[in-house]
Amino acid sequence: MSGLSAALPPGAPDESLLARMASELFAALPGQSAPAFGSGSGAQAFAPAPTPQAPAVPLPQSAPSSPVTATVPAAPQHGLSLGASSPKLVPHATAQNHVPDVASDAYPVGSPRSAAAQGVPEAYAASLPAVGGAPAFPAGGASAPSSPYYFIGESSALQSAPQAAPGVPHDDRLTAQSFGLPGSDALRALLAEPSHGASPTAAPSPSASPSYYFVEPNAAPTIGHAGRVPNADAGRHPPFDVNAVRRDFPILAERVNGRQLVWFDNAATTQKPQAVIDRLSYFYAHENSNIHRAAHELAARATDAYEAARQKVARFIGAGSVEEVIFVRGATEAINLVAKSWGAKNIREGDEIIVSHLEHHANIVPWQQLAAETGAKIRVIPVDDSGQVLLGEYERLLNEKTKLVAVTQVSNALGTVVPVREIVELAHRAGAKTLIDGAQSVSHMRVDVRALDTDFFVFSGHKIFGPTGIGVVYGKRDILEDMPPWQGGGNMIKDVTFERTIFHPPPGRFEAGTGNIADAVGLGAALDYVERVGIENIARYEHDLLVYATHAIEGIPGVRLIGTAADKASVLSFVLKGYTTDEVGQALNDEGIAVRTGHHCAQPILRRFGLETTVRPSLAFYNTCEEVDRFAAVVRRLAGQRKS
Ligand code: ALA
Repeated sequence: MSGLSAALPPGAPDESLLARMASELFAALPGQSAPAFGSGSGAQAFAPAPTPQAPAVPLPQSAPSSPVTATVPAAPQHGLSLGASSPKLVPHATAQNHVPDVASDAYPVGSPRSAAAQGVPEAYAASLPAVGGAPAFPAGGASAPSSPYYFIGESSALQSAPQAAPGVPHDDRLTAQSFGLPGSDALRALLAEPSHGASPTAAPSPSASPSYYFVEPNAAPTIGHAGRVPNADAGRHPPFDVNAVRRDFPILAERVNGRQLVWFDNAATTQKPQAVIDRLSYFYAHENSNIHRAAHELAARATDAYEAARQKVARFIGAGSVEEVIFVRGATEAINLVAKSWGAKNIREGDEIIVSHLEHHANIVPWQQLAAETGAKIRVIPVDDSGQVLLGEYERLLNEKTKLVAVTQVSNALGTVVPVREIVELAHRAGAKTLIDGAQSVSHMRVDVRALDTDFFVFSGHKIFGPTGIGVVYGKRDILEDMPPWQGGGNMIKDVTFERTIFHPPPGRFEAGTGNIADAVGLGAALDYVERVGIENIARYEHDLLVYATHAIEGIPGVRLIGTAADKASVLSFVLKGYTTDEVGQALNDEGIAVRTGHHCAQPILRRFGLETTVRPSLAFYNTCEEVDRFAAVVRRLAGQRKS
């Protein structure tokens, strides 16, 4: 939650002021004129926005239009309809951006220093880690290596297997039996009920013996490279095995308060697979140098690794070229870059910027600051009682003054999956540019920026199993080329005299100074990891796990789910009658279960539901039904002990 304040420039208002400003901004009823911010009269100046005079932009035929509803619902419907989103999460769907879901090359062929040649750890899977002298993908169908990890062969030079704490029994193959709880069977039974709309085949199956995604006796290694990889053939995925996945994440073996850690705070940050940890170690052990500036070998290695990471990002999100990928600190800095560069050049007094009621403060405050500087106005798309945006209301907000529509793809507070494709299409019809905040979406679903046709897309590396301090701005090339630098300094210039400076083209123009080189490389390793698991596999598994978790707590007396949209990802926000959210969070922590409690840097949307805080478990693909059962047992116990 500190990402917001961390991003504020010196002299900027503090977070409490910004939070209050955000709150005031969202105070208007849905359907009313959204409050206007700015008008050039200082950071605290709010005034009603004029009703748009221009004709509304017509809604596409396919987009549903919903009536305006009251701001604070008396009782949001809790009907579980996640199954409705199943078609978007069809397992083994062909990747839209022509990215295979199977292991791909770690470094582009043609690089003078291929990862495999250097023994780069992230290339373990792709470059056939030798086990006992035998290749890991033996052509003759020899047995798989005995390493319990997916991507780390026994030949790992880093010997990075998680160590059990002294005296703590350590089973690195977690199964339902590890917890002595039901789970997978229950999930199968649950999902077998047709009403849930989920496939019984999606149930995780605890494995009695190690299994491997990418080590198939007869499989040839897939060493492709950007632009020449075949289309995804997800049918080549072996079944998803959550217990095998978990072995790649050493922190999941941690004990907290004497219990095995349950990491249900994935919306705040995700845990890191050993492949990422090893890649960072390898960088500092073998490649560390500043980039782009020297003739020496390590500068070349570091530059190669950094630029290879840019290629991986471009491929992962379906960008048209690496020039469209800018490295920044995270999604917050990414949005600030767009606001301060594109915004400063293109936003004028009277212009309008549309955001949704669901936004994280990071996708509110930079636009408020821009509005304060320019005299522009912020308009807000309201949501219905389930927490889904009202497209009909959005349509009415659009007019010729709309210059930008900036919306999240997945709400960090509610988990709502926002129909961004429709939102982008409508924005473009109105002549506006679009920014999609993908911080909470990119680890849960396939993102294809060109299919979305968005002008900007931003995300944070740490929310997709990569390091903190690294994130991405995707921008369409022609738009980036027309944008001025937002920070000046070294690295982003072609030539400097005391009279003038000539800047590099994008992306270098936007990467002043020494960037976060190692963590960009680590992000590349994280994306490789996700691609090897298969984002469609991840989406399907998480969907079913969220269905399971929703069922597990929605019937507990006193539980009120916050965010019940038909299409959701990862997040299960709730409050429990008779307890503060901190009390619930503390009780869960006592059992080793980590959730976030509080306002989640999204105060306007919580206030839309009459709340200041919620308890927010948020799931990732390494979570299990057994963990959900442990979590639900604590909530049930608290509910049973309620005094009033
Ligand atoms: N944006 C992060 C969250 O939702 C920090 O928790």
